[in-house]
Amino acid sequence: MNIGIDKIGFYSPQHYIEMSELAKARNTEPNKYIIGLGLERMAIPPITQDTTSMAANAAAIILDENDKKSIDLVIVATESGTDFSKSIATSVHTMLDINPYARSIEMKQACYSATAGIQLAKGHIALHPDSKALVIASDISRYGLNTGGEPTQGAGAVAILVSKDPKILTLNNDEVYFTDDVLDFWRPSYSDVAFVDGKYSNEQYQRFFNETLKRYLDVNDASLEDFAALNFHIPYSKMGKKALMSVTNEEQHPLLFKNFEDSTYYNKRVGNIYTGSLYLSLISLLEKGNLEAGSKLGLFSYGSGAVGEFFTGNLVEGYKDALVTNHEAMMNNRKQISIPEYERMFNMKLIEDGGHQILDTSKETSEFYLTEVKHNERIYNK
Ligand code: HMG
Repeated sequence: MNIGIDKIGFYSPQHYIEMSELAKARNTEPNKYIIGLGLERMAIPPITQDTTSMAANAAAIILDENDKKSIDLVIVATESGTDFSKSIATSVHTMLDINPYARSIEMKQACYSATAGIQLAKGHIALHPDSKALVIASDISRYGLNTGGEPTQGAGAVAILVSKDPKILTLNNDEVYFTDDVLDFWRPSYSDVAFVDGKYSNEQYQRFFNETLKRYLDVNDASLEDFAALNFHIPYSKMGKKALMSVTNEEQHPLLFKNFEDSTYYNKRVGNIYTGSLYLSLISLLEKGNLEAGSKLGLFSYGSGAVGEFFTGNLVEGYKDALVTNHEAMMNNRKQISIPEYERMFNMKLIEDGGHQILDTSKETSEFYLTEVKHNERIYNK
C-alpha cells in the first residue's frame, strides 16, 4: 500500500520585517544576513497569533469536510507549546470540527518532531488504511532582541494530511535515524527565548546530516544519483546549502543545486519555523520547482538536542494539481513593519496572573486568532 502526503499547506503571520532593515538597526552589513545567512524577510507574529491559532490556520487551508470526517489522528509537533499538560492538538482538533472519535497528541523534539509525527501517522495508516492523519508543525522561533540568533527567528505552521494513495508524495520505508545527547540549542521551561551555541549547532546539524545520509546510502545501496532533489531542515537557507556542499558540488550535481534554490523560496521569506521548516522547504520545492512525477526526493530532518533522520519519497503523477494555490497571495498580503514596531510586538506579553486580558483583534485577517486570556485560559475566535 502506498502511504504518504496527500495534502500540504502553510500559514505565515501577516507581518514581516526586511532583513536589510534589521541589519541596519543592528549595525551589521546587510549582506551578512542576505548572502551570508541567505535570508530576505522574517515573519513576525502579532500577540493574537500563537502556536494554536497558527496550527488551526494552516490546517484550515488544506482540509475539506470529507477529510475532517476521516481524520482519526491529530498530531501537533511543536517546541513552542503553551501548556505542559493539555496538548495543542486537542484545541486544534475541536476548532477545526474534526471527527470526535480521534486521537490527539502533541509531540516535541525540537525541529525534528514533525517528522516523528509523520512516521507515526504512516504507521497508523498502515494499520487503519481508510482513515487519515493530520500532522501540523507550528512554532514561533525566538532568541531575543540583539542576540546572535535574532536574524534566524521566524513564525508559522505547516499542515500535512497523511493517507493511503496520497496525491503528492509517497513515503518509502527506507528511513534512517540518529540520536545523540548534545546541548547545541535548548529552551528551559522558565525561558521564553531559546539558548544556543550557534557555531556548535551548525557543526551538529552538519554531523547529523553526514551520519544519516551515509547510513542511508550504505543500508539502501543507493547513491546521490538516485535523487532529483534533497530537501533540508532550513533554519536559514545557507545552512542547508552548506550541508549539500559537504557531500557534492554544483559541477557534479547541478540539478540538486538548482532544486535546492527552489526549495528555499518560502523559507527565505518566512524565516525559521523550527519543526515546520523542512516541510516549508518541501512546499517551496513542489510549487517552484519543475520536478517530474516519479522523481525521488531525499529529506533531511534535524532537531537540536539532537535527532536527525533521512527519509525519502516519490512524487505522484499529477502532484502539482494537488498543491494549495493561494500561498503566494497570502504572502503578498502580508504587511511590512518597521524595526521599532517589531521590537514593540516582540516585547508584548500575555498576562500570567490569572486575570482577564482582552486583545485588540481589529487588525486580524486570519481565520483563527486569540481574542482573550481569562482565568489562565486562552480563548480563540472560534
Ligand atoms: P554569526 O556568528 O552572527 O554569523 O551567527 P557568522 O559570523 O558565522 O556569519 C554567517 C555567515 O555570513 C558566514 O558565512 C559569514 O562569512 C557570512 P559562512 O562562513 O557560514 O559561509 N558573512 C557575510 N557574507 C556576505 N557579506 C557579508 C558577510 N558578513 C558575514 N558582509 C548563526 C550565525 C547562524 C550561528 C546565528 O545566527 C545563530 O546562532 N542562529 C541560531 C542557531 C541556528 O540557526 N543554528 C542552525 C543549526 S541548528 C538547527 O538547525 C536547529 C534549530 O532549528 C533549532 C531546533 O532544532 O529546534 C536552530
